Amino acid sequence: MAPEGEHQHLFDSPDLGELVVDASSLQARVAELGAEITRDYAGRAPLLIGVLKGAVMFMADLARSVDLPLEIDFMAVSSYGNATRTSGVVRIVKDLDIDLTGRDVIIVEDIIDSGLTLSYLRKTLAARGANSLEVCALLVREGLQKTHQELKYVGFRIPPNFVIGYGLDVAEKYRNLPYVCVFEGDI
Ligand code: IMP
Ligand code: MG
Repeated sequence: MAPEGEHQHLFDSPDLGELVVDASSLQARVAELGAEITRDYAGRAPLLIGVLKGAVMFMADLARSVDLPLEIDFMAVSSYGNATRTSGVVRIVKDLDIDLTGRDVIIVEDIIDSGLTLSYLRKTLAARGANSLEVCALLVREGLQKTHQELKYVGFRIPPNFVIGYGLDVAEKYRNLPYVCVFEGDI
């Protein structure tokens, strides 16, 4: 069943389950996160690093909510393939273009699940001479993190269900939904 009302999806599918975060709540929270970053990094030019592909929508909206001369870059790591559970193996598929030396880096992630992807990224990027390294995660799945990590900016803490939309996919589909909902299909 698809979410109803004001936030009608663009297309119908039995895969679309219960609404988790509607489009206007996403936009409002992203604007708040942008305002926090604007305050916290006043006088600096942070470098936002998005983790492809899930963070693309979030990055695009977040970057426009930050009123500072920031820069953006992207990294791609493989950890999931088409499955919905982490393999535990994280590998850099596309590295950064921008040098991190002396930079104030903010890793922009779509969702923290086990935390394995983030903990690998943090370790790798910490070795590159940044002045500071923080994390901004749109979603954090409650209770499942295998590693405890400090997350400076979090959009929403969500229940354990697998979710899709606003960048999040199943086998590359549903990234373009403007809201986040539960995936009801077969994985
Ligand atoms: P972790 O390494 O287990 O924390 O997995 C993080 C990555 O897995 C995220 O960046 C997502 O790409 C993917 N992922 C985790 N949970 C979901 C979900 O509910 N929907 C879609 N992708 C997810
Ligand atoms: Mg993914």
